[in-house]
Amino acid sequence: MAAARGEFSSRFGFLMAASGSAVGLGNIWGFPTNTASNGGAAFLIAYLVLTFLLAYPALMAELIIGRHAKSNTLTALKYISSGKKSRLLAVALGFAGMITVSFILSFYAIVSGWFVAYFFDPIARLLGMDGVAQWLTTDTVTRNSIFLIGFMILTIYIISAGVKNGIEKWASRLMPSLIIILLLLIVYVMTLAGAMDGLRAYLVPDWSRITEPQLLVDAMGQAFFSLSLGVGTMLVYGSYIRKEENLPLVGSMVALLDVGIAVLAGMLIMPAMYVALANGVEIYDAAGGLIAGPGLIVSVLPSLFSNMGFMGIIVALAFFSLMTIASVTSSISMLEVPVSYTVENHGVERHKAAIVIGSLIAIISLIITFNFDPLFDLVVTYATEVSQPLLGFFFCIFIGWIWSRNDILLEIKQGCPDAESGLFWKIWPFYVKFICPVAILVVYFQ
Ligand code: TRP
Repeated sequence: MAAARGEFSSRFGFLMAASGSAVGLGNIWGFPTNTASNGGAAFLIAYLVLTFLLAYPALMAELIIGRHAKSNTLTALKYISSGKKSRLLAVALGFAGMITVSFILSFYAIVSGWFVAYFFDPIARLLGMDGVAQWLTTDTVTRNSIFLIGFMILTIYIISAGVKNGIEKWASRLMPSLIIILLLLIVYVMTLAGAMDGLRAYLVPDWSRITEPQLLVDAMGQAFFSLSLGVGTMLVYGSYIRKEENLPLVGSMVALLDVGIAVLAGMLIMPAMYVALANGVEIYDAAGGLIAGPGLIVSVLPSLFSNMGFMGIIVALAFFSLMTIASVTSSISMLEVPVSYTVENHGVERHKAAIVIGSLIAIISLIITFNFDPLFDLVVTYATEVSQPLLGFFFCIFIGWIWSRNDILLEIKQGCPDAESGLFWKIWPFYVKFICPVAILVVYFQ
């Protein structure tokens, strides 16, 4: 059966890989968009609170199960199950997670493909190829198909190379670049007229909205999506962490990096929108709200960039390389879920598994692209709003009610010997057992 398993070679490697998974379109596009449409900082605060109260405990659940079992999601859940019924549930949850994450990847690849196309646009303009630039920025089925396939090939290529030489190597290079590009862009945008209005809209909360059910639902969805929870992504990454690593510590570092980069992305996108406004670009939609959705990234920002002359080309290049990096380090973590299962449980070679599964997902993406209107929203909604929270709920049930508390403690103690007397162990077990599942259900049925 199992070939030798990969392992992250250092704490830095794991942190880059896991924060790379967490930091993605969810942070740079989803979070600022959600913030814009939910009353600015009111949303930010709800998101921060929910991340630390609900998503971080769920993240820890996945990391602990993963590192304990040192195997893919399905096998890991089976491994911690004691009875026949819970083993059955483990198999169901494992498969449901793999299917859900594959669908998430199928729409993620489409959106990422748009941004990759926009990344090539300033290059084409620099080379004076205006026709190509026009093609790259026009929403057509051909362009979308080509770029989603290219994006999937890149994802497959990295996953084929394995944990250390693929995931870790790429994330360790790309994530620091992402942070540097993001910071440079923020500094630059802040110098432009209108930026301060955007910062104000972002950071001054509209308190009246903080209790709105829709705001809370969006904030929880955002927190779970952003930390890549519920489908086994973090479980699989956890399974590649060394035993001497302190799990509560590295888990909180991942959550902090994720939240930190989302907050920073907001400090880029919101001011950029108001700079666009100051430049005469329309930033409000028909209903009077800020343009959110895809329009924000593929219309508002490009219009802004094209108003900025040569500097706009540089900024566009930087911005869309940021989006591309964020996407790739996330998409690889999604493909790893079904690939690790196929490699370990069916003895398929890694690169074969990556090619076959990656191609199947690309085919689903193509089907969605060709039938965009009925399918895209449907897939996004089912995968992220219906399936993902429900699976997250069952993960909490597994760790809170099925796996023995003693084994959990033993696992955490490796790498964190005095865990038993620490704050984490005083709060977390109760939390994942009672508070998390109930809270997920409450928000879910909102
Ligand atoms: N967290 C990533 C983002 O914010 C996306 C992501 C990666 C993801 N793996 C996942 C989302 C697994 C859900 C499930 O964009």
